[in-house]
Amino acid sequence: MDDKQEHISMPRIGDAAPEFTAVTTQGTIQFPTDYKGSWVILFSHPADFTPVCTSEFITFASMEEQFAQANCKLVGLSVDGLYSHIAWLRTIKEKIEYRGMKNVEVNFPLIEDITMNVAKTYGMIQPNEATTKAVRAVFFIDPKGIIRTIIYYPLSLGRNFDELYRVLLALQTADAFNVATPADWRPGDDVIISPAGSCGVAKDRMEGKDAAIDECKDWFFCTKKLNKDKVLDKILKK
Ligand code: BEZ
Repeated sequence: MDDKQEHISMPRIGDAAPEFTAVTTQGTIQFPTDYKGSWVILFSHPADFTPVCTSEFITFASMEEQFAQANCKLVGLSVDGLYSHIAWLRTIKEKIEYRGMKNVEVNFPLIEDITMNVAKTYGMIQPNEATTKAVRAVFFIDPKGIIRTIIYYPLSLGRNFDELYRVLLALQTADAFNVATPADWRPGDDVIISPAGSCGVAKDRMEGKDAAIDECKDWFFCTKKLNKDKVLDKILKK
């Protein structure tokens, strides 16, 4: 078998986040044990001292407080050593301005993963893209340590941070209100009620007999209003 086609294992949605111990720019972490009770976004980037990654780190660090308000911590990773990480983060703070963001301090941990042990465990090395660099993977892990969403981007494509924040709020809203969220949902938009599980429920819904539902486009597609303040009050820390 071609080396590049070797079987790559990666965790899946619904799996417990694989455990590891790692050295980071904020000391050693036990993952996900140290993060129990919080949401965490574990993300990889290809390399320190590269432009797309720099724009991403400045953006992530600028949004760290916003994620913290939603009970979410950030953990980064690349296949670089600790001293490279430290030097890069210092350069970002001292020299780089991006879209009006400057003097940005990265306070969340950045994992050194020279051995690629963590990157390989999480399927962040995708050999047809790069054999020694992680792609831009994003794992959303819930307070119980379960992987809830996975997003991958190639090396050349910087992430959309509004979308990452939207995903976090949508996951938390689904949990808190037992609903699903439709395409492009944002807090304040209508949410989806789980599909009717019997003919009787379908009939009742179509006849407007379910008080919990505001609209049915058809028996399988029913929505209710969910006020933005109600969502944010429930999810965001005061
Ligand atoms: C970047 O972050 O700019 C980058 C890193 C690896 C490959 C291509 C771009």
